[in-house]
Amino acid sequence: MANVIEHASSSDEPYLKLSGITKRFGKFTALSSIALAVERGRLMIFLGPSGCGKTTLLRIIAGLETQDEGTIIQGGRDISRLPAMRRDYGIVFQSYALFPNLTIFSNVAYGLVNRRKGQDEIKRRVAELLKLVGLPDAGSKYPGQLSGGQQQRIALARALATAPGLLLLDEPLSALDAIERVRLRGEIRALQQRLGVTTIMVTHDQEEALSMADTVVVMNHGRIEQVGTPQQIYRDPASAFVADFVGKVNVLSAVAEGAGRFRVGGLVLNGAIGSEGVAARVPGGVLPGDRDAGWRWRPAAGGEPVAAQHRRDESRRRRAAQRRAAARLPPTSLIQATFAALTLLASSLAPRCTNLYYLVARSSPPRYHPRLWPGSPD
Ligand SMILES: Nc1ncnc2c1ncn2[C@@H]1O[C@H](COP(=O)(O)OP(=O)(O)OP(=O)(O)O)[C@@H](O)[C@H]1O
Ligand SMILES: [Mg+2]
Repeated sequence: MANVIEHASSSDEPYLKLSGITKRFGKFTALSSIALAVERGRLMIFLGPSGCGKTTLLRIIAGLETQDEGTIIQGGRDISRLPAMRRDYGIVFQSYALFPNLTIFSNVAYGLVNRRKGQDEIKRRVAELLKLVGLPDAGSKYPGQLSGGQQQRIALARALATAPGLLLLDEPLSALDAIERVRLRGEIRALQQRLGVTTIMVTHDQEEALSMADTVVVMNHGRIEQVGTPQQIYRDPASAFVADFVGKVNVLSAVAEGAGRFRVGGLVLNGAIGSEGVAARVPGGVLPGDRDAGWRWRPAAGGEPVAAQHRRDESRRRRAAQRRAAARLPPTSLIQATFAALTLLASSLAPRCTNLYYLVARSSPPRYHPRLWPGSPD
């Protein structure tokens, strides 16, 4: 097993480094000045909505597309202008792209045959790889005789056959049914960790990204919105876009009135703007699971005013819920009332929203995106 993939010894330098990658298709800019570093042996996931440039970026790394500007360093070598066939990677596409007229053995052996490896070595390596992906007896079959998930396992074995330094996966699970998807998600991650192969995967599935990646890169309109661990991305989104894209959120409108005062409908919240700390404590239990039961206010990293994010059809319901909440709560503690109202509002707006509240305040200028999270900070 150990010799299926052999890697250079680790160093402090990132294994793959992208700087200033820009790609235009005619007048359309698909990627703007992308800078990224992938650590050796890690799994990075490009996450973003359709058309944001994920595949284009992956294809540029593979040399299947040429960037207009920018450099790519892989394993200390500048590969920016190297043709695809001289780069060191294996790739798996969304549609399995196996050769239908070749046996599974020949599919997996393809890259090894091209590299003129000896028969014995090829046989041994293919057997090893088929075992690795859990299909040791599939060698004599044809792709059409396998299920989608099995074909994708074979595509993975084929991509790994030449022991590449970099594994590229473009939506490898999106053609599979939900159960197979989740199963293969775990298998790919386990395999990646076992082999220690530096991997970049593309997906537009948030859950997939958060459950598999070491590092998530959230992209939007050809730009990077945020790079971070799944937890950072989920709990500390750098922009309203990330918060909205990465998890179910309730966006409640608050108007910043200065001096730490925020108005939500008829209610006033107090919080220290710009501080990460807990600014206002409230009796426990109002926000489920929140250790400090408090606010975390932070200035936004740019971003749009929040009003634009509201769904119009919810606004009447929200106002009605606000009135009901305000009427029901005792006037003894304004903050307590406010938190209770927010919780009530959040659950009335999206009863199945489980774990995330997002309170956005607008004022101009500056703009703030205070966030309110249940769950204890790390
Ligand atoms: N060869 C091309 N010619 C012109 N425009 C292109 C070309 N390839 C990609 N684009 C455009 O560049 C943008 C980014 O495309 P890309 O395929 O990278 O998106 P994506 O994030 O992978 O989306 P999806 O999730 O739908 O696969 C899109 O607007 C797409 O239309
Ligand atoms: Mg794509």
